[in-house]
Amino acid sequence: MLEVRRLHVSYGGLRAVHGVSLEVRTGEIVCIIGPNGAGKTSILNAVSGIVAPEAGDVLFEGQPIGGLPAHAVVARGIVQVPEGRLIFGTLSVEENLRVAAHRRGPFVLRRRDRPGLRRLFPALADKLDGPAAGLSGGEAQMLALARGLEAEPRLLLLDEPSLGLSPKMAEEVFALIRRLRDQGLTMLLVEQNVRQTLALADRGYVLESGRITLQGTASDLLSDHRLVSNYLGVSAGASLDPASGR
Ligand SMILES: Nc1ncnc2c1ncn2[C@@H]1O[C@H](COP(=O)(O)OP(=O)(O)OP(=O)(O)O)[C@@H](O)[C@H]1O
Ligand SMILES: [Mg+2]
Repeated sequence: MLEVRRLHVSYGGLRAVHGVSLEVRTGEIVCIIGPNGAGKTSILNAVSGIVAPEAGDVLFEGQPIGGLPAHAVVARGIVQVPEGRLIFGTLSVEENLRVAAHRRGPFVLRRRDRPGLRRLFPALADKLDGPAAGLSGGEAQMLALARGLEAEPRLLLLDEPSLGLSPKMAEEVFALIRRLRDQGLTMLLVEQNVRQTLALADRGYVLESGRITLQGTASDLLSDHRLVSNYLGVSAGASLDPASGR
């Protein structure tokens, strides 16, 4: 479905992504894991059209999309839920959802009594009229996800959806991602919550300093001694970067 070949991303003179190749097949959850500053967001942004690749190819369903503007990429069916969520605090929950859906026809979450919303996001369904600023961190992440779904993605790009959430809320976000996968949604997931992510993903790539240093099925990665010693060490627990407090 998505093929990234020898992607390079630079900011001025600084090269953040050095020749990354990766692939997401229909129905898969593929994850990119790696430390802060590795270039994970830069890869997602190059796919979604937020940054233009310096070099390399991005193919979606066989068509080149590298360098297309973000709105054209969304129109193809690739939707990114950005790091930090970026919801509109002064708008109501309902309005945040409508912002994403304005270009398109009704989606499952928008039907009159919103059964889809109620089923997938029960915490939001009762708060539609309240201000988004009043949501908890976990609820705000759910809203960002719901808003992404309103745009009817065929490929959803998720940038650290569990960032800053309590373990319990993070678990709920991962459970939701699992449910979306069971409904057939294809996802490229960036995460630092390595153990939970690999428990969920089909395949993964480890990114370090802009390069892929390890790749494989989630179960291969979970048993790879380099990944275990670098990211899943005894003292590190489930967190990739214990120094960051995540
Ligand atoms: N807009 C920008 N301008 C200049 N440099 C940038 C910009 N965005 C990212 N960078 C740099 O590119 C490198 C990769 O950043 P990126 O945000 O892709 O990493 P990341 O893996 O997503 O990190 P994190 O886990 O902290 O989100 C970093 O050195 C970062 O400082
Ligand atoms: Mg990032």
